[in-house]
Amino acid sequence: MKSHDIAIIAGDGIGPEVTDEAFKVVQAAASRFGFEIRENRLPLGTDYYLENKQIFPDATFEEVKQHSAIYLGAIGDPRVPVGMIEFGIIAKLRFELDLYVNLRPVKLYDERLCPLKDKGPDDIDMLIVRENTEGAYSGMFGHAHKNQPLEVATQTMVYTRAGCERVIRYAFELAKLHGREQVTLVDKANAVRAQDIWTRVFAEVAADYPGMKTDHAYVDAACMWMIKNPEWFDVVVTTNLFGDIITDLGASLQGGMGIAASGNINPGHVSLFEPIHGSAPKHAGKGTASPVAAIMAGSMMLDYLGEKEAADAIEKSVIQLVKENRIRSVRTGEHATAEVGDMVVEQLGQFAPA
Ligand code: IPM
Ligand code: MG
Repeated sequence: MKSHDIAIIAGDGIGPEVTDEAFKVVQAAASRFGFEIRENRLPLGTDYYLENKQIFPDATFEEVKQHSAIYLGAIGDPRVPVGMIEFGIIAKLRFELDLYVNLRPVKLYDERLCPLKDKGPDDIDMLIVRENTEGAYSGMFGHAHKNQPLEVATQTMVYTRAGCERVIRYAFELAKLHGREQVTLVDKANAVRAQDIWTRVFAEVAADYPGMKTDHAYVDAACMWMIKNPEWFDVVVTTNLFGDIITDLGASLQGGMGIAASGNINPGHVSLFEPIHGSAPKHAGKGTASPVAAIMAGSMMLDYLGEKEAADAIEKSVIQLVKENRIRSVRTGEHATAEVGDMVVEQLGQFAPA
């Protein structure tokens, strides 16, 4: 039997409870489709840091790298300084495993979940490809004269030709693979002039895909059009920071943070899958967070591992439950977390071999 080893970092806040539901569903899909998922749960996160004074020991990092994929629930906790655990875990994995693609599908499953008037599933179906290792996240920042009246703070956005090229090419290949019609570049090259490198490299890569339509939007306009005319977007490729921002907007078009999933991918290498929501500490331990985003991250992980039928069955199950209003909403408190996982497991029977 085919088997996949998964490193699981359930993390902080609601991370563990949504991860439990994701793996309930992933395991049910594995047994129906005849493969094995071996779970290796790693107790990383804020509690681990507070007990051990280490965020991500080298030996654990080496161990994580040996898996077929990594699954992350959520991290971040107000007991430690802002960004500390995020950068020690998520950013470390993104950078050191060179997970240069952050793929964030924005797909509306039912009109009822969408906050926009008169927009339905035909209008909202985008694949957003966020560059994931460069830009404003490169870690090149500093302060001088800290806390003095003349304090200076800088953070450099870094774009390399190789870094732009590979992620733009990924977006075009993805478009081709999924029979999509258009790739849109989102940047702010009119004001952030260094982003002109994106314009030039995009044009060069596009020339290799003569059948693919291309488009361009400055990020400010893109935010407006994602609301007014989301149907204009198909595959989108953008910088790290803009991708971070527009995918929260995208998540709300789909129904909210309770539904949006992502894959941090280095094609052909160990990659990381996570819901895009955070750890929501105030809701932790109540069993009322939506696990749908976490379940969809599980589906993306299976797709990446080559278990496409299982991945599709999970997505179809979620779509059906949403359409039939059995998943009434993906807001916190609407359902018990475990109730949603159970419903998806049961629904899988419709789309999977017995
Ligand atoms: C995301 C998150 C992270 C990011 C945070 C937690 C550092 O917002 O994955 O979108 O900014 O990339
Ligand atoms: Mg974000």
